[in-house]
Amino acid sequence: MSVQKVGVAGCGLMGSGIAEVAARAGKDVVVREVSKEAVEAGRGRIEASLTRALKREKISSEERDEVLERISFTQDLADLADRDLVIEAIIEELEAKNELFGTLDELCGPETIFASNTSSLTITEMAAAVNRPDRVVGLHFFNPVPVMKLVEVVRTIATSEEAFDRTFAFARSLGKEPIAAKDNSGFVVNLLLVPYMLDAIRQLERGVASMRDMDTAMVLGCGYPMGPFTLCDFVGNDTTLRIAEIMFEEYREERYAPPPLLKRLVAMGRYGRKSGKGFYDYSGDEPTPLPV
Ligand code: CAA
Repeated sequence: MSVQKVGVAGCGLMGSGIAEVAARAGKDVVVREVSKEAVEAGRGRIEASLTRALKREKISSEERDEVLERISFTQDLADLADRDLVIEAIIEELEAKNELFGTLDELCGPETIFASNTSSLTITEMAAAVNRPDRVVGLHFFNPVPVMKLVEVVRTIATSEEAFDRTFAFARSLGKEPIAAKDNSGFVVNLLLVPYMLDAIRQLERGVASMRDMDTAMVLGCGYPMGPFTLCDFVGNDTTLRIAEIMFEEYREERYAPPPLLKRLVAMGRYGRKSGKGFYDYSGDEPTPLPV
């Protein structure tokens, strides 16, 4: 039985992208946010992204309207009760995720699969907290969700073959390229990407080269779409710090330890693009490097 009814809990940057790609693939989507304001902000994000796709002539205005019709918004978790699959994309805190899945465990039918879009927490800890550990998986998307082709589909030692296969097929039905990953903190991409980003910050602290030159180096020298500091600002320095803290807690390896400069930027509210300032200042036409 393929997944048709999708629930998305949390409609921030990732949740809105996940809801959009699911609706664009013809799924019936219910998005849950905690407040009226958060619902409106989430709806606005999806509309803006579809308008962008429309302007780039990737979809017609009829398709845009149809996609929006397939998404309904709610503040009530009970509206996710009939979903085949619920994907959470809420705050990166295990307690919050476990509380959410705990409530959904009571509300949803036994067949519903629970998926987490976590970047670095382990899925096993979420599976262990519900009465359906065999139906808990990781489903990790990448930012910007409508563009990035990869989805990591994560199984724990308790995930059933059937739940894994259904989730894998669901990811493929979104037009994504799924890969199978074991449940270790960071899965595949962040296991490799996070140390790279943190190392770039460490080399900046050592004064190896300027921020802009290091960004240019990785774009022109390696063909990366963005240099490491542009990428940090794009992902969000607060997000990267949180991921690094979780991964360091898990592995106790220096390569995952958040560098002091990253902590200082976050303390100053320099989260990156989303706050207008990070390693760069985004208030002008072109990003300009800020003092670090
Ligand atoms: N939403 C929707 N579409 C977007 C978009 C967005 N936010 N940003 C860009 N696009 C689309 C554009 O519409 C455009 O599509 P077409 O070419 O088909 O018209 C395409 O992406 C390219 O966009 P641009 O030409 O405007 O810009 P670009 O060539 O510089 O590409 C980028 C932008 C796709 C973001 C590219 O720079 C890139 O791939 N960067 C790296 C992103 C990355 O590494 N993401 C992973 C982050 S890690 C993560 O997400 C996991 C985690 O757990 C932290």
